[in-house]
Amino acid sequence: MILSIKNLIILTAIAGLVSCGNENATQSDESMIDAEAARLTLATDEPENWLNHGRTYDEQRHSPLTQINTDNVSDLGLEWSFDMYTARGVEATPLVVDGVMYVTSSWAVVYALDAKTGQLIWDFDPETDRAWGVNACCDVVNRGVAYYDGKIYVGTIDGYLIALDASSGEKLWDTLTIDKTKPYTITGAPRVVKGKVLIGNGGAEYGVRGYISAYDADTGDMAWRFYTVPGDPADGFENETIKKAAETWNGEWWKWGGGGTVWDSMAYDAELDLLYFGVGNGSPWNHMIRSNGEGDNLFLSSIVAVRPDTGDYVWHYQTTPGDSWDYTATQHIMLADIEIEGVLRKTLMQAPKNGFFYVLDRANGELISANNFVDVTWASHIDLETGRPVELPGVRDFSERVRIEPGPPGGHGWPSMSFDPESGLVFIPAQKLTGSFLEPQDPADLEYRAGLWNTGTNFVPDSLPVESEGATSNRSNQISPLLAWDPVKQEAVWQVVHKDYGAGGMLTTAGGLLIQADPQGNLIAYNSRSGEKLWPHWLQTGAGAAPMTYSVGGEQYIAIAAGWGSAFGVNSARSTKHYGLVNRSRVLVYKLAGNAELPEVEEPFLGFNAPVETVSADIETLEEGMALYHRVCQVCHGNRAVSALIPDLRNSDQNVHEIWQDIVIGGALSANGMASFEDHVTAEGAEAIRQYILYEATIAYKDQLEIPNRSDSVNTEN
Ligand code: HEC
Repeated sequence: MILSIKNLIILTAIAGLVSCGNENATQSDESMIDAEAARLTLATDEPENWLNHGRTYDEQRHSPLTQINTDNVSDLGLEWSFDMYTARGVEATPLVVDGVMYVTSSWAVVYALDAKTGQLIWDFDPETDRAWGVNACCDVVNRGVAYYDGKIYVGTIDGYLIALDASSGEKLWDTLTIDKTKPYTITGAPRVVKGKVLIGNGGAEYGVRGYISAYDADTGDMAWRFYTVPGDPADGFENETIKKAAETWNGEWWKWGGGGTVWDSMAYDAELDLLYFGVGNGSPWNHMIRSNGEGDNLFLSSIVAVRPDTGDYVWHYQTTPGDSWDYTATQHIMLADIEIEGVLRKTLMQAPKNGFFYVLDRANGELISANNFVDVTWASHIDLETGRPVELPGVRDFSERVRIEPGPPGGHGWPSMSFDPESGLVFIPAQKLTGSFLEPQDPADLEYRAGLWNTGTNFVPDSLPVESEGATSNRSNQISPLLAWDPVKQEAVWQVVHKDYGAGGMLTTAGGLLIQADPQGNLIAYNSRSGEKLWPHWLQTGAGAAPMTYSVGGEQYIAIAAGWGSAFGVNSARSTKHYGLVNRSRVLVYKLAGNAELPEVEEPFLGFNAPVETVSADIETLEEGMALYHRVCQVCHGNRAVSALIPDLRNSDQNVHEIWQDIVIGGALSANGMASFEDHVTAEGAEAIRQYILYEATIAYKDQLEIPNRSDSVNTEN
């Protein structure tokens, strides 16, 4: 390990801070904590390993390895692959520590693999009750583990934080991080900073109150919790910070939960000793309902900086005050030192859902610059004086259907960005999508409905679609641009436009490579300077997670945890169907001259069987069935019943139709993740949904989807 002066300063700072927070520890305990904490801080000096979620605490996802580079990447070949055990979405970035890879699949199943051979060393299944999956807005995914001091940490979909022995996979401790009476879920990767494991959660679509917590890495004891939105004032506020935040709220927000979950991004600056995290959308989305349309609603849609020892608030920057459009600021947070107007600035960068790219001063949260990286119709620009967006007229008035770009999935979702310190470019997996909002038409939609999306808007089709609004007609508008973004000039230097959405996260390397999976299931290496496509590999499945790289025994490897799923996969599976992609949860690892074969697989059946019976309901019942379906079932079975991850209801056979009521009301398939919906759907409602499904099945059968060519992307320089 080579120590630079900068790193020595960091080491000393950590040693000082750890010892004052740990009065009872003996001298040798302290130095051990110091050494382990420092190892993560100095991950930058271990290019052979990938120790933190984003490799280094600054989350740049850039590797100094150069063995695989622009000159030889055409010789890159598959070295090994490992099929994981679950069959839902995959979002994990593998970690590699001294020749062992730690990776997760859905339901937080953990695998330790020999990083050279792919041989399984151990696995760990938290055996989560599948019925809890009903609380996951966006598939039962998991974004990976944290490593610290011989331990592996993972969060489960039902809210447990678990510590495992890294060498055996044996469980050392677990702790419940949520109130199990509320629909919280964990999908994010824990991080470890200075001997504390940090974890947040999700659930803002279902009416929860967001927070992030810190646990002692050795014992699992809670050290602190930072609430991101205020609770019921009658219960008293937890601290002065949240009391002040409550001044920005109105009405009886606590009855709705408030939202603001911390479900993904974190970063840490050891010199400033600041932990940064991103905060999600409001619960419900609609500001008018949540807070009478008044107030900024802190800390929704904000980036927050706290002290990692105590959780004490230091600063925040709110990207979308009074959010009403599901504009989370949980997207990837990245730290980099960048020269701006001749001064080296310590910046924090984020491309949140709202479509603007932000460069902040990470010492104090001051806005340096912001510009839109995709088309934005809700605000004209960000005022640099006030740091606030300048909203366009009418964007909060949902009394008529209003179309907003970016839509709720955002101009950028969870897939990670990367940063190349050589060129100074940030690579953004962006997406171009609109969404439409309308006041709920049915007063019942305004009532709190535990276990159902409480968005306070009607953002799904509320009438049977006419031909021009059909599931496949406006596909040409849906693209996911890979943007090479200059954060100083705040503009794209070049871009690769992928057809359709669902492209994956980014990896850059000092070998001049940029690597990303496209929406059609190809892992592609580009020249990171020009965007020239240098190497593709067909994954046999889709991938949203970011690739990573490591070396063992002097050889460099590139890895990706592939597998199609997550929000797009479950509730808008069009690409999957169109490109013939099925979900195969699989780790694929490449090296120069690798020549392993992908496993033989059965081609997926993408056609439609003749419907089991003809639609017998009248048009009113079909409309009702459609509305109910989209309110209750769409989140898992897909918009207009197009599903790729879980059974496509349009192809359900006679047996399923016969026991439809037992499944939907009786919970007959509960153990497999299809809970009973008896609290939300009556027997007549379930039948109306069945009729609507038969209607969709009839259309699909008549109009078998065509499968376009896989070769997909076009380069456009500008
Ligand atoms: C939280 C996710 C989720 C929601 C919401 C959901 N389902 Fe399911 N559903 C599943 C899963 C997972 C399966 C697959 C279960 C299995 O593998 O046996 C399934 C299976 C089914 C099946 C069996 C299909 C077949 O061909 O085997 C039916 C029917 C069904 N769901 C109907 C519904 C209806 C109707 C609704 C809305 C009232 C609904 N589901 C809401 C997750 C969900």
